[in-house]
Amino acid sequence: MIDKVFRNATLFTPVDRGRPQAGPDQGAVRVVEKGAIWCRDGLIQAVGPEEEVLRSLHPCVPDQETDLEGRCVIPGFVDPHTHLCFAATREREFSLRLQGVEYLEILRRGGGILSTVRSVRETDEEELFLATRRRALSALRFGTTTVEIKSGYGLDTETELKMLRVIRRIGRETPLDVVPTFLGAHAVPEEYRDRSDAFVDLVIEEMIPAVVRQGIARFCDVFCEKGVFSVEQSRRILQAATAAGLGAKIHADEVHDLGGAGLAAEVRAVSAEHLLAASEANLEAMARAGTIAVVLPATAYSLRKPFAPARTMIELGVPVALATDCNPGSSYTESMPFVFGLAVLLTGLSVEEALTAATLNAAYAVGMAERVGSLDVGKQADFLVLEGETPAVIAYHAGVNPVVQVYKKGERLKV
Ligand code: NIG
Ligand code: FE
Repeated sequence: MIDKVFRNATLFTPVDRGRPQAGPDQGAVRVVEKGAIWCRDGLIQAVGPEEEVLRSLHPCVPDQETDLEGRCVIPGFVDPHTHLCFAATREREFSLRLQGVEYLEILRRGGGILSTVRSVRETDEEELFLATRRRALSALRFGTTTVEIKSGYGLDTETELKMLRVIRRIGRETPLDVVPTFLGAHAVPEEYRDRSDAFVDLVIEEMIPAVVRQGIARFCDVFCEKGVFSVEQSRRILQAATAAGLGAKIHADEVHDLGGAGLAAEVRAVSAEHLLAASEANLEAMARAGTIAVVLPATAYSLRKPFAPARTMIELGVPVALATDCNPGSSYTESMPFVFGLAVLLTGLSVEEALTAATLNAAYAVGMAERVGSLDVGKQADFLVLEGETPAVIAYHAGVNPVVQVYKKGERLKV
């Protein structure tokens, strides 16, 4: 047993009330000046004012004591929506987009997601692992200690499973906690062009059973979008996935208001993601169902679209989480601080709301809130030491990394 105490910290943490934080609770952040965290074998035993923490564990003596010199400490970021597992980047496509070619038009011409599918199919597993690990470690330097990673660049059973094995290895061979999501319905592959229903059948009849048999994913996601998968096709996939024991997630209303947000509420998805074009009626349905909105401001930024209405979501009582969406097409960043800054300065979240969104609500969005997402007794001692005095520095000191130290399960990582 190893006991460690981290003292003389200014702690900022959302308060876990056993459910995702919505409405006014989203901004309820606990601040403790001269605070301490006591952990045993990486799990928090006590947290709060230093004197109380030390008193509560008396006469136990820690094996290690660290003075954090009054610095600002927050929970490690949880990035609940990424596509980190890919091979080649798509810089030329980015240049095309800068010239005005639309994202979905590039996909329609066989580029976009489909070009990443070609490169992931061709790349051997080891190389794909090394590329993914590079990005995961970069995310860790920016303070991400738990990450969700989606498959979805295979679009055939063999390559989807290859991606999910790589994703599992990232969880085993890096300090990050990794949540794997199966996204077999990310696009209609070229060999199924104009036969999307047949591809949906393949996802339901072959891919989902194979993924579940191998126990290699926790969630199933689908890209519900005009020209990709319809609401009806998405419903079939998510119903099959939930019946097989996977949690449901959905890329909803990113470009067009197809009704994906309403479907998320209907199938009791844990989260609906993107939501740039979601209608207010469907957001209300999400609030009633307790579906988390995973907002991806770096995607709106990169696609130069209006941001998702995060302020309205909070006012309607939808719990909001933040994620990078890191992928080679619509959002090439692994930086949660960048996303945090966009959320605060351009979508109208307060610093406190953004902090809850990037930690606790994000942890709920990936089914990890029992272990991570806030500084609470029983959770992992995953935390960040920031430069500056408060989490506002994350938005304030723009374009640089405000994370000076990263701790995972009480262990300081060399990042
Ligand atoms: O979340 N919208 C669909 N999927 C990703 C983009 C994937 C890609 O372009 O490679 C997204 O934006
Ligand atoms: Fe995405």
